[in-house]
This record gives sequence, structure tokens and C-alpha cells, in this order.
Amino acid sequence: MQHALNRQVLMEAQSSQAYLAMGSWSEIQPGLKGVTQFFFKHSDEERMHMLKLLHYINERGGFGVIPPLEQPILTFVSLKKAFEELLKHELKVSESINDLVDMALKEKDYATLNFLQWYVNEQMEEERLARECNDKLEMIGDDKSGLYLFDRDILTLDAT
Ligand code: FEO
Repeated sequence: MQHALNRQVLMEAQSSQAYLAMGSWSEIQPGLKGVTQFFFKHSDEERMHMLKLLHYINERGGFGVIPPLEQPILTFVSLKKAFEELLKHELKVSESINDLVDMALKEKDYATLNFLQWYVNEQMEEERLARECNDKLEMIGDDKSGLYLFDRDILTLDAT
């Protein structure tokens, strides 16, 4: 279980890096101030998810391992593509959390099962948000005024 939780530490750290890269990319695009804040905020949240796991592993008598990270995707052909990547990424994270829940159940590790409930709920929220952004961008298409409103309002979509 410890090994699997450490793999999740890596996944959350990679998520943080991926959103950091999206933030850096959007920061140099014209008119994406809100989106940029959104990506940076999400990168911080993923770091918090990583730390929460790390502390849990250590508190339970294990050792939380700081993993080496791969360079994430740095540039995107459009904002829509960046959000498609974000959704794809979150779906992978959800799958990984579900696998951990499965393992905790099989190993009768009820403390970890209980701990993982927070991540299960968090993933539901993250998927909802990512889908909402993708749906909106699909509707907006190339409409510049739509994109303006998307950028202006994106932080209000994020209830976390
Ligand atoms: Fe912590 Fe967005 O997965």
C-alpha cells in the first residue's frame, strides 16, 4: 500500500507541474489573465494533494518519497487543447485513486480507505470542473467575446 501511495504522490506532483506549465503558457497569451490565475491556483492545489499524501504516509510509519518529475507539456495549440489535456489528466488521476481504494479494501486497510475518501470526493469535483470548462470552450469555438467572458468568469466556476 505504501508503494502505491507513493506512486500517487508522484501523480499529484506531476499534476502540479502540468498545471504550472499550462499557467506559464497562458500567461504569455493575450487576454488570459483569469485562466492563468486558474492554472496557477490548480497547480498549488495539486501540490497540497501531494503533501497531504506525503504526510499521511509518514504519519503511518512509512516513508513519503519525493519523486523525480518528467517535464510536462509546455505549449498548446489552443486554450481548448489545454483544457482537453487537463480533463484527460484528471480522469487518469481518478482512475488511479479508484485503484488505491480497491487495494485498500482488498488489504483491509480501513484507515487508508477512510483517508482516500477525501480524494474520491475531490476527484468528483475536479472532473465536474474540467468537464464544465471543456463544454464551455466547445460552445465558444472561435468567438472572441465568448472567450473574453470565459476568462473573466473562470474563477467563479471553481468552488474549491
Ligand atoms: Fe489531485 Fe487534480 O488531482
